Amino acid sequence: MSQQKIHGVWSNSWIFVLAATGSAVGLGNIWKFPYMAGENGGGAFVLVYLFCIALIGLPVMMAEVLLGRRGRMSPVNTMKRLVEEGGLHGAWTSIGWMGVFAGLFIMSFYSVVAGWAINYVITTASGTFNGADAEQVGSIWGGLLNDNGTLLLWHTTFSIMTGVIVALGVTKGLGAVARYMMPFLILALFVLLAYGVMKGNMAAGLDFLFNPDFSKLLYKYVEVNASGETVACSGELIHCEKQLTYEPTLKALGHAFFTLSLGMGAIMAYGAYMPDHSNVAKTVVTIGILDTVIALVAGMAIFAIVFANPEVSPAGGPGLMFQSLPIAFGSMAGGQIFGTLFFLLVTVAAWSSAVSLIEPGVAWLVENKDYNRWVATLILAGSAWLLGITAMLSFNVLSEWTPIFLFGKTPFNFLDFLTSQLMLPLGGLFIAIFVGWKMSKTIVAQEMDAEGHPLFEIWMFVLRYISPVLVGVVFVFALIDSLS
Ligand code: PHE
Repeated sequence: MSQQKIHGVWSNSWIFVLAATGSAVGLGNIWKFPYMAGENGGGAFVLVYLFCIALIGLPVMMAEVLLGRRGRMSPVNTMKRLVEEGGLHGAWTSIGWMGVFAGLFIMSFYSVVAGWAINYVITTASGTFNGADAEQVGSIWGGLLNDNGTLLLWHTTFSIMTGVIVALGVTKGLGAVARYMMPFLILALFVLLAYGVMKGNMAAGLDFLFNPDFSKLLYKYVEVNASGETVACSGELIHCEKQLTYEPTLKALGHAFFTLSLGMGAIMAYGAYMPDHSNVAKTVVTIGILDTVIALVAGMAIFAIVFANPEVSPAGGPGLMFQSLPIAFGSMAGGQIFGTLFFLLVTVAAWSSAVSLIEPGVAWLVENKDYNRWVATLILAGSAWLLGITAMLSFNVLSEWTPIFLFGKTPFNFLDFLTSQLMLPLGGLFIAIFVGWKMSKTIVAQEMDAEGHPLFEIWMFVLRYISPVLVGVVFVFALIDSLS
């Protein structure tokens, strides 16, 4: 009860759904999912991703909400409490700690990408894209990536926007944002989908996204370059060797966690503010469906446009959304207004997700250090902002800086890799084991309000045997793969 006085509580469970959906739906759905599918073989990647959402994401999300609601504190202290309640080893609290850092790391590059979206609000509003073809759009995008002043301005703006909402706190800040945005975002995506059907190449888009070819997921082509290193194939395929790889599979798994905001305490922190008598399972399934539908619709709209413009490559990487959608806005009637609105919605979606990235850390500082919410937010958002500058520079001055201690990646790619492919899946694995094996089953059943219900038994089984084993297997294979 005292906890609810510190942080507040959602006024009803519908607000929890909106806030958790606000956290889940963000750049991961609209920006990241399409380009990852594009880079990792399309249909097969999408299928593995959907499989991971259903068999790992949803069960783990239920577990995470449950932990939060039972502990009713910041993820770190929630874990402490539950560890004490169950008489378990203190090491389990590292689930909470790892989450605080994962949130901070994600926020650092998330804010840079959200900054790109803010910039596009202005570029689109000013009419720059009107009548622009793929090549012109591409050069506007390239120009932005090299303009550090502008990038820094929007990265900073977004960090401040996020900080203000977090500092305002749960009921005033978090709930309000989520409530108004989601319906508009969904509407806008469906308008883009309609555009894709009428003007884009939807048939090719659908084929790419939903016609799985597993050889594209499981094999990569490599060649040996002049200095004797094995590198990605650049020339003709006859010079290249086909090699088995598990990396795209790990990416699909990692993205299932990323897109549902799982494995780092965001959902646990929100669960802590959830009223006692709301149904965890139903709520989670609603959030999962909304999140998935939004990602798939965004993917279909983007690929319909991509395949109608041969200059834009589906494997174009992080710029995919920024290089494809403006072509549509530039050519459709009212595209200037609609495009502006769209990037505004993307910004707001990113905003409501970003808030949940630093909430776990802020909540902990408030509880343990007795910090004022504003000070706590300044510490967290400020650190993420600083680290974010390295992510920002990864597309220009640091683009060649791929040191060995960053696993040969740029800071941007490393932060993404470290969080999406390592920290979140690991966090999820530990959460599944903790709820499935360590907590008392009676308490878990009580919290789920489903004692003896057959669906409860199925969920428990999946959480105990399926989710952790799948995460473990993908992990080990991908690790062997990257070491060999
Ligand atoms: N789920 C968010 C998105 O898809 C990102 C996020 C990850 C937010 C982890 C919070 C925690 O954009």
